[in-house]
Amino acid sequence: MTEPNATLQTMWQRQSIRKYRDEPVPADHLGLILEAARRAPTGSNRQNWRLIVVTAPDLRQQVAAACMGQTWIGEAGAILVLVKLPDQGDTNGAIVLDHAILAATSLGYGTCWVGAIDREQVGALLGLPDGYTVQNLTPVGIADDTPPRRPRKAPEELFMAEGWGRPLSYEL
Ligand SMILES: Cc1cc2nc3c(=O)[nH]c(=O)nc-3n(C[C@H](O)[C@H](O)[C@H](O)COP(=O)(O)O)c2cc1C
Repeated sequence: MTEPNATLQTMWQRQSIRKYRDEPVPADHLGLILEAARRAPTGSNRQNWRLIVVTAPDLRQQVAAACMGQTWIGEAGAILVLVKLPDQGDTNGAIVLDHAILAATSLGYGTCWVGAIDREQVGALLGLPDGYTVQNLTPVGIADDTPPRRPRKAPEELFMAEGWGRPLSYEL
């Protein structure tokens, strides 16, 4: 077995965290996380996304409450809110937020993709212009929990070799 390198370890370390310590994320760490997002690829290099960083405790709590009552989101030191530009798809933004999430993981922070959002309400809280919508968001903070790992489907169900219906398995 080949030992996973640091990048792979980060990917394997990531899991959804739903309990945080109320501590700020230092500016230099936030900077590295945002730079990772900025370097993410986008189709035709359109960079058709924006990201709002929410650190003010009051606003964090309001945003969290507008995520279908997922109040734990507001405990984290920062919330990264991914904004979709008018008439744009979701793909580029998803890559961007995942870059940010993996960067945050590599720095030791917990994160969680959040999609259960009252988008009108969060958009209003953040003053989004007409046509701009909240796509997804993630808290970034110090984990206060080590939840059990969520299961994944077996490789044979997920991967196929050379064409549909030919299961592929691999060894680690
Ligand atoms: C697009 C997307 C939206 C999600 N929305 C939520 C959410 O609103 N609330 C939540 O607690 N988890 C949410 N999750 C987290 C998933 O439940 C989680 O990633 C999945 O169960 C696998 O667990 P893991 O992230 O710990 O590996 C979302 C994940 C994705 C990718």
